[in-house]
Amino acid sequence: MRFSPSFLEEIRDRVPISAVIGRRVTWDRKKTNVSRGDYWACCPFHGEKSPSFHCEDRKGRYHCFGCGVSGDHFRFLTDLEGLNFPEAVQQIADMAGIPMPQPDVQAEKREKERATLLDVMEMATQFFQDQLQSANGARARAYLRDRGLTGRTIETFRLGFAPDSRNALKEHLATKGVLKEQMEACGLVVHENVPVSYDRFRDRIMFPILSSREKVIAFGGRAMSPDAPAKYLNSNETELFHKGSVLYNFTRARRAAQGAGGAETIIAVEGYMDVIALHQAGIENAVAPLGTALTENQLDLLWKMTPEPVLCFDGDGAGIRAANRAVDLALPQLKPGRSVRFALLPDGKDPDDLVKHEGRAPFDRVMAQAKPLADMLWSREAGGGSFDTPEKRAELEARLRQIVAVIADESVRRHYGQDIRERLNGFFQPQAKQGGGRRDFNRDRRGGGNDRFAPQGPRAAGAGSISDRLIRSGLVKGHHDQPTLRESALALTIVNHPELLQQEYDEIAAIDYDNRDLQRLWSAVLSATAAAGTRLSRELLIEKLEEQGFAALLKLLDQQIRNARLWTATEQAAHEDAGDMFRQALALHKRAKALRWQKIELEREIAAAAEAEDAEGIDALMRALQEIQQEILRMENQDAIIDGFGVLSGRVKGSAGSSAG
Ligand code: UTP
Ligand code: MN
Repeated sequence: MRFSPSFLEEIRDRVPISAVIGRRVTWDRKKTNVSRGDYWACCPFHGEKSPSFHCEDRKGRYHCFGCGVSGDHFRFLTDLEGLNFPEAVQQIADMAGIPMPQPDVQAEKREKERATLLDVMEMATQFFQDQLQSANGARARAYLRDRGLTGRTIETFRLGFAPDSRNALKEHLATKGVLKEQMEACGLVVHENVPVSYDRFRDRIMFPILSSREKVIAFGGRAMSPDAPAKYLNSNETELFHKGSVLYNFTRARRAAQGAGGAETIIAVEGYMDVIALHQAGIENAVAPLGTALTENQLDLLWKMTPEPVLCFDGDGAGIRAANRAVDLALPQLKPGRSVRFALLPDGKDPDDLVKHEGRAPFDRVMAQAKPLADMLWSREAGGGSFDTPEKRAELEARLRQIVAVIADESVRRHYGQDIRERLNGFFQPQAKQGGGRRDFNRDRRGGGNDRFAPQGPRAAGAGSISDRLIRSGLVKGHHDQPTLRESALALTIVNHPELLQQEYDEIAAIDYDNRDLQRLWSAVLSATAAAGTRLSRELLIEKLEEQGFAALLKLLDQQIRNARLWTATEQAAHEDAGDMFRQALALHKRAKALRWQKIELEREIAAAAEAEDAEGIDALMRALQEIQQEILRMENQDAIIDGFGVLSGRVKGSAGSSAG
């Protein structure tokens, strides 16, 4: 007889594992900590003198660090005492004082019935597959060929064809001895409110849907003619099939993601054909829900396979609405390290369209730009709206707080609170958003045209299109912000004096720029110098950078530096002067970064203290925060004193060395 998992769990929970094992071993008094439920003994499975056998009541498991055995209550009894499993269960149930369950006749009967239903589904699958290859299936084969599917793909997904007949399948199954009730229970025939049942799927391409044990449990059927009443018809809910808990292509995707050289993440797309086309293009880690929006159960399934699945939606209105619903679905369930990302496809295209002509590359590009959940949430709430009055801003803030409150995990909730505060702060500082000049160098950037999230200037994107809304939402802040003078100086000095890089390569190479354009420029600089070795001249470096589309950015940096009269960063500066300024700026840069981190950390702690209503804690933290802020201010002033940094440059030239230490 089979025991239900809940029964086994219950008796295991009632009996500490130490009570089971303690009847066979003597605990080591020194290493054991009874109050923590943490026990050590010499291992009963192998001979030893010092105790390396460990068990923990909290986990209900044992492990020997000497010989490697491990297991739970039942395993201990079966392995050490040679009981069979039911006997071991009986013994633990006795210790727990819980009677053994009566054999559940009903459940066993249901189990048998399910097994037969699976057999019936398998027969149906083979029937549809055979039909596809028969003379009847010529049109269906042509349809699949036109959609670009290979014979191998058709085989892999076991695609089939349901002929245009009210009883072809029904009769086929009847000759194999399948009962009418079984066909009905499988959902293969329509029988409600009709005198004579008839085949549910007629004149359709058939997509078998597999359980996690790789048995066919349902079908999706696609009509071939565009004017059929339903494009896709799916099996109804049956004993075997609960559509909200199944994902199409689940096991294959799991293997692809977890197997050797696995793709690691899982991608959820919208349709069967998307999954299949992606598979054919070499992307085997995709799944799809079954004719409904993603459900909570399906999201759980995804999270069982991977901590951060990517949800892929059409970039049109309906797709964005679906993505936004998924945001709400996921939020309450987030855990540390467990989230979802969102990939939005170009308007009106599904993954199937995308891989049809150029293979996987266009889809890979979309995936590479998948956005974190927090970005999606932000652009949904703040994107496109106007927040030109304090009241509207307060409303936005209140709404975001309310949304974030549904996150069950305390720590993730706190971090979301922090994230939103930072975004609000950035969002309400208008000077960071508009400005001339930058448009041009964005356009110069190679590949910028494919980057649907790249800013294209307010007029380049139609009102209400995604990229337009994203720009206004501040999502692309990193692209849009003018780099700070200090960062520009750091980058440009190296471009103008590349030999500086050779002096302290590791430290300089590790500079971490806030501005995304500078980050990109910097990696191009590093790969160019890595390729050319120590002999890279300024001219050659600039030539390479220009080839990669950085000409306009370099011009912008040069202009910025000259406007600030920061001559030491220009190519005309003597190498020694450039080096001195560079080292000062770098020290300041690192100090500023550290301070900013401390500030963020403190703000987070203040939020936590506020939530815990810890008034004293808040006071102390606020004082610390003030000190940090003062130091940040002092640093900003110091920036201005260093030769050339800021407006004071001309006057205090002489004091640069002493004030920067
Ligand atoms: P789509 O309408 O996006 O179809 O539906 P598709 O996947 O692109 O299919 P093709 O390329 O036209 O063949 C996406 C999913 O929604 C469900 C199906 O699961 C489909 O795969 N659906 C769609 C239905 O259940 N019924 C329908 O009538 C339409
Ligand atoms: Mn499609």
